[in-house]
Amino acid sequence: MPWPPHQHSTGPTIAVNDIMLMKSDEPSGNAVFRSEAGALAERFPPNFVWGVATSAYQVEGAAHEDGRGDSIWDEFCRRPGAIKDGSSGERACDHYHRIGEDVGLIASLGVNAYRFSLAWPRVQPLGAGEWNEKGFEFYDRLIDGLLERGVAPYLTLYHWDLPQALQESGGWMNRDTVGRFADYAAEVARRFGGRAASIATHNEPWVVAILGHEAGIFAPGLKSQKVAMQVSHHLLLSHGLAVQAVRAQRCTAPLGIVLNQAPIHAATDSPEDLAKARLDDGLTIRWYMDALLRGSYPEDVLEFLDEDAPQIAPGDMATIRQPLDFLGINYYTRNLSGTGAPLDPIGSGKEVTDMGWEVFPAGLSELLMRLKADYRLPPLYVTENGAAYRDRLVDGRVADADRIRYLHSHIAAMADALERGVDVRGYFVWSLLDNFEWADGYAKRFGLVFVDYATQRRTPKDSALWYRAFCSRAGTAGPRRLAINDGVGR
Ligand code: FCB
Repeated sequence: MPWPPHQHSTGPTIAVNDIMLMKSDEPSGNAVFRSEAGALAERFPPNFVWGVATSAYQVEGAAHEDGRGDSIWDEFCRRPGAIKDGSSGERACDHYHRIGEDVGLIASLGVNAYRFSLAWPRVQPLGAGEWNEKGFEFYDRLIDGLLERGVAPYLTLYHWDLPQALQESGGWMNRDTVGRFADYAAEVARRFGGRAASIATHNEPWVVAILGHEAGIFAPGLKSQKVAMQVSHHLLLSHGLAVQAVRAQRCTAPLGIVLNQAPIHAATDSPEDLAKARLDDGLTIRWYMDALLRGSYPEDVLEFLDEDAPQIAPGDMATIRQPLDFLGINYYTRNLSGTGAPLDPIGSGKEVTDMGWEVFPAGLSELLMRLKADYRLPPLYVTENGAAYRDRLVDGRVADADRIRYLHSHIAAMADALERGVDVRGYFVWSLLDNFEWADGYAKRFGLVFVDYATQRRTPKDSALWYRAFCSRAGTAGPRRLAINDGVGR
């Protein structure tokens, strides 16, 4: 049976009763959108997980409160020129002080799941030693608040905010950090494992390794391929060790990892571009998938890296290849690879978002089908999908029809893959709120909910109303949790 029921019935059924969304019968909650949402919703089984996602540094703020330590992002944001608008996550969406309101907002969308990350330096300020009880209390309240509202908490342990104290001894370049991460994972699992719907170790290790250590555009801002590849190996190793450490706690939450993936298409049919696309596919997809699911790195990539290939100790690859209960895929766009000048999707007449990312929904079904063809997969979740647009709040309304179209077309692409036999179990919109978009600061708005940063007032956009109508057609009653024995290889 492709869809074993895995409903976990804690908490009441969600009542769509929040005043914030009561004005839902306005324009794009209109009949057309509602009926389209209904037809789309019918393509999914009733136990599908529908959620929204955020991450700690992007929304929490309260960067220096209640004993939180500095993270590498606090430090990176202090670097002149690092963040386009000179901002930081210091206040962000002030979510730390507004979890009551924000949990209400999540519940009012009618979703049955919320994906968020813990800030490691909030619960262990130095990344080793002392735990910070005040930090844990915050997540305790968040998790209980979600469960009370019928929303399943999907935890991520690492969404890029390494304690700065660890960076000072080499960060992810230093193999010791791997062990620190496993200790942190075990402690979180000990406290929250019984209530979490799932625990993901890392969010997008490629981004951490490459954008943080080779391109230097994300924290910690280093620029070396050799360092980046060693970091990628340590991240994967820390995933494996953390999974072992969490399982040793007899944690009942399903365990997995979240990868950013995009089909890589050659810019032209020239042999050079085809070869470049194959290599980029290796560096972004196969490097992570092969290591996690086959216990090896792709030969062609190792050959290309030559002296920049990471040092691998005996036993590392077996540690990385732990049985997974699920795999999270973040999908935004496809990538075009070629040896010529970088392709400019904006100039090419293609439809793009405010990030300049091409809108390419077919890439999502293509990617999911390809992963199914090439790997023995655990159940999949689309853990992030969404788009930034230049939203404007006018007379209390944000008319973001372009985002609705984006979400609709990508959910439809996911349905195509599902109908062709891909075991995908859930979908999370990035993001619940407009938030701190890393090096782009606050200029890029990905939220279903508009945030006025001066007042911290939240206004659901038309897309929030659309998603609520969609979720209500999809019948999202009660939190959804993957049963631990649904995964492969356990
Ligand atoms: C992903 C990140 C997420 C957000 C989106 C737009 O790569 O995981 O934090 O920044 O991109």
